[in-house]
Amino acid sequence: MSGASPGFDLHGKLSLVTGGGGGIGCGIALTLAQAGARLLIADRDEAAAARSVESLRQQGHEADAVILDLADEASVVAACADLLRRHGTPWLLVNNAGLQDRELLLDTRSSEWDRMMAVNARGPMLMTREIARAMVDAGSGGRIVNIASNSARVPSVKGLGSYAASKGALLALSLSSAFELVEHGITVNSVLPGGVITPGAMAARGPATEGPGRRKPPLGMCEPQDIAAAVLFFASPAARYVTNQSLTVDAGASLT
Ligand SMILES: NC(=O)c1ccc[n+]([C@@H]2O[C@H](COP(=O)([O-])OP(=O)(O)OC[C@H]3O[C@@H](n4cnc5c(N)ncnc54)[C@H](O)[C@@H]3O)[C@@H](O)[C@H]2O)c1
Repeated sequence: MSGASPGFDLHGKLSLVTGGGGGIGCGIALTLAQAGARLLIADRDEAAAARSVESLRQQGHEADAVILDLADEASVVAACADLLRRHGTPWLLVNNAGLQDRELLLDTRSSEWDRMMAVNARGPMLMTREIARAMVDAGSGGRIVNIASNSARVPSVKGLGSYAASKGALLALSLSSAFELVEHGITVNSVLPGGVITPGAMAARGPATEGPGRRKPPLGMCEPQDIAAAVLFFASPAARYVTNQSLTVDAGASLT
């Protein structure tokens, strides 16, 4: 039973988090579970998803894994059909999974641009289409939260051209989704993290980091639960009239 205040209680709400097998997605899943949500951990990494599910269950939460590859439309369509059949319609979709590799602009390969767009922008579009269709059919409203990046708005480190463009596309998708889904009682909002130390951030390929994003933010380094708190707000009953908004969580990095 959740001890959350009523405005932030997600008791029994089915919540689907892509990339929930690692990093920020793990933190989002735990925060939502602590607010009472039932979790579906969607990831292409089966072992990581299983670890995340096991950890949630050991802490007394309800969780299951969904294995899919966001870059593969057939995989997304099949996995969503299967999860809808087995679990019903999610209340919340968090489009969190993303790639973070860097490539300097003058060296950019179109294949890298396409790979980044496929996972970071096209993947969330496919997930939104599949899950929002079910939300509309169910007629009970719902929530979508997209995890973008502050690098879509402010200079961070060099080499983020394809990445930042994919997150810019995700922000534009958020606006269009909010516009087309509001009549169905579905809100769509975005969270823009600054730097967070995660497996993906540490393993990102590319040139040495250079730029304002290297500086330590005034409030310290964000952790996954800092991003998760913003997701919880957008997912919560308290935010029922909040849509088409974005919230940057960057520990004050934009002030330096
Ligand atoms: N870490 C940061 O500093 C930071 C900053 C700003 C924004 N973000 C964004 O936050 C989100 C999470 O980042 P993170 O640092 O936790 O990443 P991460 O790499 O640590 O974890 C991402 C998870 O997504 C999964 N994933 C990757 N590609 C997938 C695919 N094609 N299909 C299904 N699952 C896939 C991975 O297996 C992994 O479990 C990303 O969208 C990222 O762009 C991160």
